[in-house]
Amino acid sequence: MAVSRRQVLKIIGSGVVITAAGVGGFALTRAPTVALAPWGAASRIEGDVRIKALAHAILAPNPHNRQPWLVDLDTPSEATLYCQLDRRLPETDPFDRQITIGLGCFLELMRMAAAEMGYQLEATPFPEGSTGARLDAKPIAHIKFIEDPDVATDPLFRQIFVRRTNRELFDMAQPISANHISALEGIGDGDAALIGNNDAAKLDEMRALTSSAFQIEIDTPRTYMESVHLMRIGKAEINANPDGISLRGVMIEGLYGAGIVSRDMLSDLDDPNNRAVIADMRKAIESAMGHFWITTPDDSRISQLEAGRVYVRANLKVAEMGLAMQPLSQALQEYPEMDGHYSDLHNMLGVAFPNRVQMLVRLGYADETWPSPRWPVESRIITH
Ligand SMILES: Cc1cc2nc3c(=O)[nH]c(=O)nc-3n(C[C@H](O)[C@H](O)[C@H](O)COP(=O)(O)O)c2cc1C
Repeated sequence: MAVSRRQVLKIIGSGVVITAAGVGGFALTRAPTVALAPWGAASRIEGDVRIKALAHAILAPNPHNRQPWLVDLDTPSEATLYCQLDRRLPETDPFDRQITIGLGCFLELMRMAAAEMGYQLEATPFPEGSTGARLDAKPIAHIKFIEDPDVATDPLFRQIFVRRTNRELFDMAQPISANHISALEGIGDGDAALIGNNDAAKLDEMRALTSSAFQIEIDTPRTYMESVHLMRIGKAEINANPDGISLRGVMIEGLYGAGIVSRDMLSDLDDPNNRAVIADMRKAIESAMGHFWITTPDDSRISQLEAGRVYVRANLKVAEMGLAMQPLSQALQEYPEMDGHYSDLHNMLGVAFPNRVQMLVRLGYADETWPSPRWPVESRIITH
């Protein structure tokens, strides 16, 4: 049975959301409520300010939703952040650059949540250094929680619960305005600059480049399969492993149950249904109505954390403005098949070595999308 494209699947970017045409009461029963519980839990937690701050930080955006953060709370009023090394993405992120950006997002949300409770965070990044080409078992940051009644709260705080990565087709009748672009550019700073574009000619060039970079990731078996291995199909799988790439909804459960959607089908680039899905993903990438990108003066670990800080703030600002966004990281990935696109993108954006583009994002208007799953906060605390 061939699956109608319109009816069925939207698998977008590095993540996947599959929606049913009609979402009624039954759809709600298929919501992976266990996996989504952390979105509601953060505000309800009482007691240790560090755990409440952590419960907000785990809602941060992060590559392939791997949630690599692990926190040691053994010393009172302090926290040490580590990366869980087996949650990295060696094929698409061979130098752990994107994983580090995600940890920068995490630290920024932790800071915002602590401020909301009247605490300053004094964070020391890489207190034991960071030398190799990849992350290792040394801490990512050491953090002190310091009570301070004068600490400024952050106007973007409430957007933590609303922020999403949206992989839908964006509405090509609704432009991104110059005001949107300048509001976003105001988020950047000297450590990580943010530049936006809504100019039509450049928009077309960028649509073409990002779409073709995406196709390279698909056509490179080891990078494509890295995503396929992280797919969680349907409510039970998502609840059991609330990370990676979620395929959810009534439709997907039906297709999965009937054997029409399977890991084999999703692995097979010759399967007509999978090809239709991938074509739709490219269409979504090409529906960008604006882009922004984040640059740093070098590619140090500290700069990567700074890029994460600015990235998550931009994501919160996008939510506040009622827009949608999706990172398009393929052209920034550092494996040989992507080298040409990597340098074409840097040239197109006028970013010269040692400056680096750390994030590239499409902007537009789109339907709301579901929150992504999260492991519960207690699972991210190191037990001794
Ligand atoms: C460094 C980085 C790179 C990312 N690259 C992509 C990407 O290329 N495509 C995509 O759809 N999402 C990308 N994302 C978004 C994550 O997939 C997303 O944050 C994660 O799945 C959790 O979903 P949420 O942001 O809706 O909470 C990226 C996020 C980060 C921090």
